[in-house]
Amino acid sequence: MESSRYSLAKNVFVDSIDVDDYINLGSSIKAYDQLLSSIEKELKMILIFGSPGTGKSIILNRLYHNHKYQKDLHYFATPITNHKEFLSRLFKIITKKDLPQNTQVNFSMLVDYCRSIRGEREIIILLDEAQMYSKDTMEMIRLLADTRTVKFVVALHKTEDENEDMVAKEHFQSRIWEVIELENGSREDVKTYVHKKLLKKNFFDLANIIKRRHIGLIYKLTKGNYREANKLMFSIFELYEHYDMHDKSKINYKKFSTKFIEMAAIKLGYIDV
Ligand SMILES: Nc1ncnc2c1ncn2[C@@H]1O[C@H](COP(=O)(O)OP(=O)(O)OP(=O)(O)O)[C@@H](O)[C@H]1O
Ligand SMILES: [Mg+2]
Repeated sequence: MESSRYSLAKNVFVDSIDVDDYINLGSSIKAYDQLLSSIEKELKMILIFGSPGTGKSIILNRLYHNHKYQKDLHYFATPITNHKEFLSRLFKIITKKDLPQNTQVNFSMLVDYCRSIRGEREIIILLDEAQMYSKDTMEMIRLLADTRTVKFVVALHKTEDENEDMVAKEHFQSRIWEVIELENGSREDVKTYVHKKLLKKNFFDLANIIKRRHIGLIYKLTKGNYREANKLMFSIFELYEHYDMHDKSKINYKKFSTKFIEMAAIKLGYIDV
């Protein structure tokens, strides 16, 4: 099949939480620095809270990759919703032993064990998508954190339902948590994001023709949310890809197309027609 370089440009904006794709954005730097100083403090738990697509997972991932050799650090990228399996993973991390076959974790013994090694080890466990864990599991996490041998960093996303969010947040806040809140990026962040993404993959010419006014429009449409920015940029380059293969006269290679931004926005439902 014929292909276009826009197919590659499009794929630059596929969601990724790979540490190599990390970009220093105002919002991420602030949260990451806060996270670093939090894990040095005498806290039991740290909460990373924010709307979907604000960069919680990528920050957790970065923390893990930057510190996995210096710290007793463990990362649960996808939640283990099976309670037994979750427990046996914790057992293995804490005791450094596999759970013998056909046995179950004796939770109170695990807690006692944590108490007995307090001060000798500081285990840090990163839990992404914490909204997926059941109440029971969260309660056990709390009990383990109370021993101060295990510190948990949990990422939790805001839901549409504000009441639900408050319940979750209050539940967490009452337990000596530090809350790190992530918000959408600023206009400047969006500019950095779009440009750096393209530059990292050597699309200098494309980065160059995306000007302030285009960024302004992208920012307005996505409200500075990185996942939405990914979707929008992907759709824009999909249009470029299409016309590049089928009707080159529709493309001005020297100027970025505001019209394509708008068409992509309509397709994604950002603009009503
Ligand atoms: N600092 C960053 N550097 C590079 N890319 C980023 C950064 N922050 C966010 N992104 C981009 O935005 C996308 C969304 O970020 P991420 O998956 O971390 O959001 P999230 O807050 O974990 O969302 P959810 O609540 O849905 O899990 C990522 O796939 C990545 O492409
Ligand atoms: Mg996430």
